[in-house]
Amino acid sequence: MAKSRIIIDCDPGVDDAIALLLAFASPDEIEIVGITTVIGNVSLPLTTRNALRITAMAGRQDIPVHAGCSRPIILPRVQRGASVHGTDGLGDLGISDATHEAESQHAVDFIIDTILREPGEITLCPIGPMTNIALALIKEPSIAEKIKAIVFMGGAAFTPGNTATDAEFNIWIDPHAAQVVLSSGIPMTMFGLDATRHATLTKARFDQLERDASPIMQTAIAIMRHYGSGDASLHDPCVTAFLIDPTLFRGVDAVIEVECDQAGAYGRTRAVENGNGRPVHVITEVDDERLFQLIDQRLRLL
Ligand code: BDR
Ligand code: CA
Repeated sequence: MAKSRIIIDCDPGVDDAIALLLAFASPDEIEIVGITTVIGNVSLPLTTRNALRITAMAGRQDIPVHAGCSRPIILPRVQRGASVHGTDGLGDLGISDATHEAESQHAVDFIIDTILREPGEITLCPIGPMTNIALALIKEPSIAEKIKAIVFMGGAAFTPGNTATDAEFNIWIDPHAAQVVLSSGIPMTMFGLDATRHATLTKARFDQLERDASPIMQTAIAIMRHYGSGDASLHDPCVTAFLIDPTLFRGVDAVIEVECDQAGAYGRTRAVENGNGRPVHVITEVDDERLFQLIDQRLRLL
């Protein structure tokens, strides 16, 4: 399988951190061209600080971090509560600050420039609200046909939400952005709650991770333990795991519509039979044991 050249668009975030570490540990399969940050689990200054802290922790200061949008397109939203990701977004563990800084170029411009420079080569991996990706498509529509693919975490096609009754968090924060992206016609793979709810950390799995854990691994475990108290699903790492081993997952093709009406099921992502537009590959099944083994093996390489 050819190596994926990717931009990870994220809001770290506990599970975003693990998704990044998994990608860092998989250089044969994944080359990260850049990391872009967005408001989501915590504010933009914090998601950017966390992206820098994670790259520093793994010695990957060579990967540029670009800060993006500090609010959704239409409705300002509060961030997710401290109970899920901690007030600092990484479990309030006192992880050291990076000594390097984010790039001066805005994330939206970095995404546009990178895709125009390497048409057909770049896969976008949004694992937070899709505001940056939507604005890149709006600012420079010609990039749509030059993006190789989008593999994203967000939504819930056939299952209830985790934020509002029918809405998943990333989509609920900025459904208008999601609608722009999902209707773009770009080849897309969706990791919604249909799949990611099955990527769970059990006590036995924590015990396995802890065996002979390296210092980075110990920090990763501590971050995940914070998360485990509320929502034990490792949503975002499914995206980077897919690029490493797509045989871990199975799905169906469906057109996805996003509810943007505040009077309706705001933020819902509905699979529509015979809907208009290009179908999205919606992942519905995860081999969670093999997924966990992959995460365990790869994090040990850091
Ligand atoms: C998504 O919401 C965030 O809290 C996680 O980082 C993940 O991207 C799951 O609904
Ligand atoms: Ca996330």
